[in-house]
Amino acid sequence: MTHATHALSDEITTLRDAAVTALATVESLDKAIAWERAYLGPKGRVTSLLRGLSGLAAEDRPQAGRDTQALRAELAERFEAVRERLAVAARQRHLAEDAIDVTLPGRPVAIGAAHPVSRMIDEVIEIFAHLGFQAVFGPEVETARYNFDLLNIPANHPARDVWDTIIVESERDDVVLRTHTSPMQARTMERIQPPVRVIVPGRSYRYEAQDASHEWMFTQLEGLAVDEHITLADLKGVLQEMARQLFGPRRRVRFRCDFFPFVEPGVDFAVDCAICEGAGCRVCKQSGWLEMGGAGMVHPNVLRVVGYDPARYTGFAFGLGIERIIMMKYGVDDLRAFAGNDLRFLRQFARAVV
Ligand code: PHE
Repeated sequence: MTHATHALSDEITTLRDAAVTALATVESLDKAIAWERAYLGPKGRVTSLLRGLSGLAAEDRPQAGRDTQALRAELAERFEAVRERLAVAARQRHLAEDAIDVTLPGRPVAIGAAHPVSRMIDEVIEIFAHLGFQAVFGPEVETARYNFDLLNIPANHPARDVWDTIIVESERDDVVLRTHTSPMQARTMERIQPPVRVIVPGRSYRYEAQDASHEWMFTQLEGLAVDEHITLADLKGVLQEMARQLFGPRRRVRFRCDFFPFVEPGVDFAVDCAICEGAGCRVCKQSGWLEMGGAGMVHPNVLRVVGYDPARYTGFAFGLGIERIIMMKYGVDDLRAFAGNDLRFLRQFARAVV
């Protein structure tokens, strides 16, 4: 062995010890790769050692070459083992961290609920279905003909002022947002012959300043029954049944004279207060009665214009506010709450009424 090969074998031993010691301290994949670059990479220490072999004497080169290649192979194998071990550990750590506990309760999903007005519409549809009434629906954009003329309210008649009307801009000057659901009286009677028993739930619009009891948009419930021999007593019986279904079996209905051009006689009707049983309290403002709407016997003119014979047929009609029912039933004191979209208000009904 020459002096040069002696020196080389010492260098290999030193390099091997340094490499093995360094690899033993590696505890991450990043560090392992840095280690590989430092020893085995193109500019690594083993690679430079191999390059240096060309400077050796020809007879020393083969053995030195084999030794250096053996070192390279050993280190590569050690690196592979460490890399594999770290990769397995990293994957296991990852799995452990990402583990899903399938026994944990799920996060609650916020599901929507029907609006209190929609629920009350469903409730009254159900009540009236038992009384033989069918629910029908009509357009919210109406013509003055259905909203007024066919209801015995001629143009230029002062009665039109009762309904502060929102006019719809259009080529014609007679398009309005319906001020009540009564136009469906004429639309229904035009379409079918007696006996008629319908209710019409739907939105109505009035040009009105808003306050706790006035809204420019609200929901009405219209009722219409036309047949032979229908009397005011039938109207009262139907409204009383509705009141009892909505507010309890002891409710009574009160009629007082009122005027609407499309009924004769006309009444307003009230239900005795369910909270104080009519004795007088804050809710009924000490009167014992809660005003609900207007009603009456269908005016002969209204029957005549749709081609019904007023000598043969009579009928009753009524109209009331759906929001008003909810306010009375649940003690809501501001009509603006219904279109206000305050979820805290709406959620109370999601739980109260199922
Ligand atoms: N349409 C009337 C209103 O909104 C209420 C009503 C309906 C009165 C039917 C009598 C008969 O004021």
